[in-house]
Amino acid sequence: MKKLLIGVLAAGLGLTLTTAEAAQTPAPPEQEWSFDGIVGTFDRAALQRGLQVYREVCSGCHSLKYIAFRNLSDLGYTQAEINLLALEAVVVDGPDDEGEMFERDGRPSDYFPSPFPNDRAAAAANNGALPPDLSLMAKARKGGPDYTYAILTGFEELPENWKELDEYSFLPRDFKLQEGLTFNRYFPGHQIAMADQIAMAAPLAGGVVEYADGTEATIEQMSHDVTTFLMWTAEPKLEVRKAWGVKVMIFVFVLTVLLGFVKKKVWADVH
Ligand code: HEC
Repeated sequence: MKKLLIGVLAAGLGLTLTTAEAAQTPAPPEQEWSFDGIVGTFDRAALQRGLQVYREVCSGCHSLKYIAFRNLSDLGYTQAEINLLALEAVVVDGPDDEGEMFERDGRPSDYFPSPFPNDRAAAAANNGALPPDLSLMAKARKGGPDYTYAILTGFEELPENWKELDEYSFLPRDFKLQEGLTFNRYFPGHQIAMADQIAMAAPLAGGVVEYADGTEATIEQMSHDVTTFLMWTAEPKLEVRKAWGVKVMIFVFVLTVLLGFVKKKVWADVH
């Protein structure tokens, strides 16, 4: 009886494993990040380039509503630079004395303005798909920053004969790319509406941004930079947390050694 039960369980497990495998979305490949590891920090130059990519490309569709301009001092900007960055933004404020909303220049205390007045307008402009707020994106999905990077670099043209190719064995056999959507193997469902309607499928094409520091703006470089920036927006206190982790570990180590000596001393008389 027991054997039978185990057999049934094992068969069931095997079945779930195989079905799960067939429909599995490939895991985002692991990337190297300056903020990895216990002593990881943000690369300031990458953060600034990432902000540039966000401002020039992503901000056309995605909001970043938990970040205020004044927070950008973390990225190494001076107060004057932050004032300028804020000034370039148009912020909706109000209502005024007549009850009307009005537009004004941004101030350092303003949060990044959203590209669309509301979610419906955002979805309507994007094939019905809502561009999610990016503030927490780099930590919100399985795979974290690797996922964000994989999405940005994972746009590809699905070959006609994909059914014959092993590389696409993760796709359900009846998969069909919808009109207006782009194939991306790392996105759940494998088709994504994040397309630049004017020019091309992926929002990032080589050279779409001209970096102020002269770095060559390849797709990989821009994706890496903007993901670093989005990791900062998702966890601005990452460096502080990691620095504390190291301090606590040193403290615990020293304490353990000291307690070891104390124990020896106390027990020395007993033995
Ligand atoms: C033309 C508009 C547009 C631009 C520009 C754009 N996106 Fe998107 N993005 C979208 C839409 C719409 C979705 C939702 C797709 C869906 O649900 O099918 C999306 C989805 C995403 C996702 C996946 C979210 C998830 O739910 O897993 C990430 C990550 C992302 N965008 C990051 C970026 C970054 C970073 C940039 C700038 C380099 C950018 N996007 C530029 C419209 C855009």
